[in-house]
Amino acid sequence: MSISYGDVFQQHSKYHRHEMPQHYLDWNTRPPLYKTYPQVPHIHLPEPTHPKTPSLFTILQARKSVRNYLDESISKTQISQLLWATTGIRRIELGLAYRTAPSAGALYPIETYLVVNNVTGVSQGIYHYSIQQHQLEELRVGDFRNDITQAALDQNMCATASVIFVWTGVFSRSKWKYGQRAYRYVYLDCGHIAENLALTATGLGLGTCQIAALYDDEINQLLDIDGVTESVIYLSVVGHGKK
Ligand SMILES: Cc1cc2nc3c(=O)[nH]c(=O)nc-3n(C[C@H](O)[C@H](O)[C@H](O)COP(=O)(O)O)c2cc1C
Repeated sequence: MSISYGDVFQQHSKYHRHEMPQHYLDWNTRPPLYKTYPQVPHIHLPEPTHPKTPSLFTILQARKSVRNYLDESISKTQISQLLWATTGIRRIELGLAYRTAPSAGALYPIETYLVVNNVTGVSQGIYHYSIQQHQLEELRVGDFRNDITQAALDQNMCATASVIFVWTGVFSRSKWKYGQRAYRYVYLDCGHIAENLALTATGLGLGTCQIAALYDDEINQLLDIDGVTESVIYLSVVGHGKK
């Protein structure tokens, strides 16, 4: 079997008991924890009220990948609940803001963008989630259904779902502490976030499907990110599933 970059990464990023990387944390070079777009219009979201949902075990039993959607909008309140459940701030402890999903070293390398197709009270377009303000930052207004579908290997659910969550990794946030091993943690962090979304969407009676089959740089271009310091990791669509 030939050995390629994935195999090399897996081996090179292992921890070994007697060869642990020696590093010290230079707090002067710590990358910012939050990405913000202060100059763009901000969309206020309702408070993320805690809805009545079925029990966790009922939700686990019900969750499945949903790929066919009705042409129906979801509400701003649902968007607010889904965003809070994925990367929202749930507690402040000793000045640190901890979120709903775990993160290696509480470094929170994942950013969230939304491609809005059909959400009541929010124009079609591309938005960034401002975690601290619990608001949407409007990056581009318009119909991006074709662009996001094509960038996701023509998976039509990107055109028919109400919203597409797009998660990117800002690698420097984790590399600051973990070096190259950070790449493992960025992907693990994103998986936690995606599962939070899947379970919350299911609890709200919505359908969802995770998507990793994508042309990375086509998505990066859509978000206007460089694909090196920040790059797409994963997508999830959400909408009203066809029965
Ligand atoms: C990392 C990952 C990537 C995935 N990418 C896609 C995808 O690109 N397209 C798709 O239709 N489903 C995708 N899925 C969904 C899986 O196909 C699905 O979870 C699996 O078939 C199990 O079915 P279930 O989710 O209904 O339990 C992905 C799931 C994971 C965890």
